[in-house]
Formats: sequence, structure tokens, C-alpha cells
Amino acid sequence: MTTSTEGPRGFFGELYLRSTRPFLSDTVSDAEASFLEARLREGEASGLVLDFGCGHGRHASRLAWRLPGRVVGIDFDPLSLAEARSSAPVTRGDFFRLPFRDDAFGAAYCWYNTLGTFADDAVPVALAELARCVRPGGWFMVHGTPPHAATWQPEASYDAVLPDGSRLVEQVRYEPHTHRDTLTRQLHLPDGRFMAASFFIRYYGVPEWEALLDAAGFSVRWVHGAVDGSALNEASVDQIVGAQKRG
Ligand SMILES: C[S@@+](CC[C@H](N)C(=O)[O-])C[C@H]1O[C@@H](n2cnc3c(N)ncnc32)[C@H](O)[C@@H]1O
Repeated sequence: MTTSTEGPRGFFGELYLRSTRPFLSDTVSDAEASFLEARLREGEASGLVLDFGCGHGRHASRLAWRLPGRVVGIDFDPLSLAEARSSAPVTRGDFFRLPFRDDAFGAAYCWYNTLGTFADDAVPVALAELARCVRPGGWFMVHGTPPHAATWQPEASYDAVLPDGSRLVEQVRYEPHTHRDTLTRQLHLPDGRFMAASFFIRYYGVPEWEALLDAAGFSVRWVHGAVDGSALNEASVDQIVGAQKRG
């Protein structure tokens, strides 16, 4: 059996940017960047920092001036990178073949359920490649939705007009046996174009991250349930796991 390292076809890129950005407020991105900044200023997280799946650079751009010369973003979407490049050093590349030398980074972070868009068996492969590029003692922080929050609304649909005049139509269904939301997203643009993609988001609990990260050579050091640093609990809508590379 081969491992599929392919993410959701046709989702990342223009459809993702147009349909997701309206929901990513500056307030939220500022708070997330402040959380990352504080962790990255801690002594053991010194050195270069990799934004693993930087997208249009909402974290890398904020950190570029707060931690000058330290943050590098990687993503494979040219459209996202074109925007990120104006405010942060970013490079095009694939999670599964990172264009960096061994131990290049003192820390890395991966935000917004990014790893949950891959098949379960691809995640250890991506983590092994990431671990190769983080030096012993360096950090990895992974952010996503805690599994309990994904069960709150097992089925949902959305049909609304976005600020740019596009109509966004989405159906979401949570599958308890796979711990995934399966989604169908359609976007009708004001210029007459139509975009659509089906994809999933897999939600990993803390014990699962502990096992996945342990296999990649990281030990979990902390877990937070929000970017204010509060503990993860059953009301949390965020889950941020911080792990340190052994060795
Ligand atoms: C959910 S978005 C998160 C973007 C950003 N971290 C944020 O929080 O706004 C995931 C990002 O990962 C990128 N991505 C997905 N698969 C990738 C791969 N195999 N290699 C590199 N980037 C990838 C996508 O292009 C997208 O920008």
C-alpha cells in the first residue's frame, strides 16, 4: 500500500483564499501571532523558525517584524505565496520534501488544522520530514480544532454572500468513526466563475498528537486551549500542542 501525500485537490489556492480569508479577522491573527511570538522568544526556541504551511502569510508577516530575520514560511500554493512574499521571507516547497538542510530550524509551527487535511498515514511522513529540519532541543507547535468541538454540530450547511459579492455554499458532516468533517464547498464568483471542492478535516486529540509526535522524535511539553495560554478543556475551540525535539 502506498501513502497518499496529496492534500485536497482544488481546495487550496484561490478557492481557499477567497472563502476562508473573510473569516480570519486581524484580531484573531494578531492574537495568534502574539502567542507564537511569546513562545518563540523563550530561550530554547532560538534560531530560525519555520511556518509550515504559511498560506498567505498571516502569521509569518506579523512575526517578520516582531522577530526580524527569524521566520521563514513554506507553502506550495503560488497564489498564497505571492501575497505572503510582500511581507515575509517565504519559499515554495512540499511538506514531504522540504528544501532545507537537517537541523536548520530552532522551531516550527503549523496552524489551522493544516495537517488534518491529509490522510492519516501521510501525517507521520510529514512529521518525519519536519523533524529532520528541526534541531535537537528545538520546538514544534501544532494548532487545530480539538475533536470535542468538531462534534458540537455534526451536520451544518452554510449559504451566504461574502463581502466581495461571492456566494459561498458549504455542507459539513462530522464522521465519528474517522474523526473527520467531510466538506463540500462551492463558490460562485461575481465574475461568473464557479469553484468547488470536496475535502476533509481530521481532528486529532492530544493523545494522538503525543503518539504522532513521539514517533517523529518530539516530546509534548505543553497543551493550551486558546492563544491566551489557558488550559485545554471541554469548552475550548482551539488546541495548541507544543513539543520539543529529543536528542
Ligand atoms: C489550512 S491552510 C493554513 C494556512 C496558514 N497557516 C494560516 O493559518 O492561515 C494550509 C496551507 O498549507 C498549504 N499546503 C497544503 N499542502 C501542502 C504541501 N503538501 N506542501 C506545502 N504546503 C501545503 C496550503 O497551500 C495552505 O496554504
